[in-house]
Amino acid sequence: MNKLQFNNNTQMPILGLGTWKSAPGEVYTAVKEAVKMGYRHIDCAAIYGNEKEIGQALSELQQEGVVKREELWITSKLWNNNHGKANVVPALKQTLADLQLEYLDLYLIHWPVAFKHEIPGAKKAEDYLSLEEQPIADTWLGMEEAVKLGLSKNIGVSNFSVLKLKSLMEVASIKPEMNQVELHPYFQQNELVEYCQSNGIHITAYSPLGSSDRPAGLKKEDEPILLEDKNIEAIATQKGVSIAQVILAWVAQRGISVIPKSVNPSRLQQNLNAAEIRLTEDEMQQMAAINKNRRYVDGKFWEVPGGPYTATNVWDE
Ligand code: A2P
Repeated sequence: MNKLQFNNNTQMPILGLGTWKSAPGEVYTAVKEAVKMGYRHIDCAAIYGNEKEIGQALSELQQEGVVKREELWITSKLWNNNHGKANVVPALKQTLADLQLEYLDLYLIHWPVAFKHEIPGAKKAEDYLSLEEQPIADTWLGMEEAVKLGLSKNIGVSNFSVLKLKSLMEVASIKPEMNQVELHPYFQQNELVEYCQSNGIHITAYSPLGSSDRPAGLKKEDEPILLEDKNIEAIATQKGVSIAQVILAWVAQRGISVIPKSVNPSRLQQNLNAAEIRLTEDEMQQMAAINKNRRYVDGKFWEVPGGPYTATNVWDE
């Protein structure tokens, strides 16, 4: 499998296992199956509420001799109520305890959105802090501290626009090396990919398959269903692979890491195999042509009456 190279010589396997929406109970088995079949990159986050189960699975896999810690790439993310220099290292230590790890390979600021520390689930305007009140630059100092303490080998961000990346690059002593964003054939993110790839920032694609298992509150009635796309289906049929595999191969071939979520053994295997599929130049162009500039995770859930965040100012669009 191809790997993305980081500045400190660590390497991230391009395809990993997504764990957003994987319920505790299911995720334990999924991680054990996945690592046994060859996954070496697991994408986690404190807010997914399943890091303890993942930690249990990772610990057993090491004890059983299936894998060594240094062969794994584990990413996790700082939740919104732990922005601010002083909060980052304690939050990361909690994640490490839950995952039963000594260090992460990559730690990301999950969203450019800050909540008050004592409120993990902000609902009303007073629960939020604007980025003027709680600047990303201050949170980044905590992220850099995490690297200096050896708690994470690499640091980065998630859901950041080009504008927010540029501001962060101006003040960062340790540059962000990853931006994890929604990316799939209906939301190809060409401008962001161009900026990141020419500035030494890797990209990870979340919701690569369209995340049709999102909670109902994050869905719209008129949504196009990515995994039923006729053009992708035509490519898939011709190659004798699945629609999901064409999508994953297309992302990886753009030099972008991809983290499909599955808790089903045959789909886990199918997704892993996709990393070895090559699309022709013509197929890559056909995929490029189906862009709809359509987000599934639209950021409107950060909008509350009188609050500091809107989808427009989160994405800078
Ligand atoms: P399941 O976990 O039952 O396999 P995303 O990665 O974009 O968030 O999408 C995850 C959704 O896609 C889940 O509902 C997952 O279901 C489903 N899924 C994962 N892999 C495949 C695949 N190869 N074919 C079809 N659906 C898939």
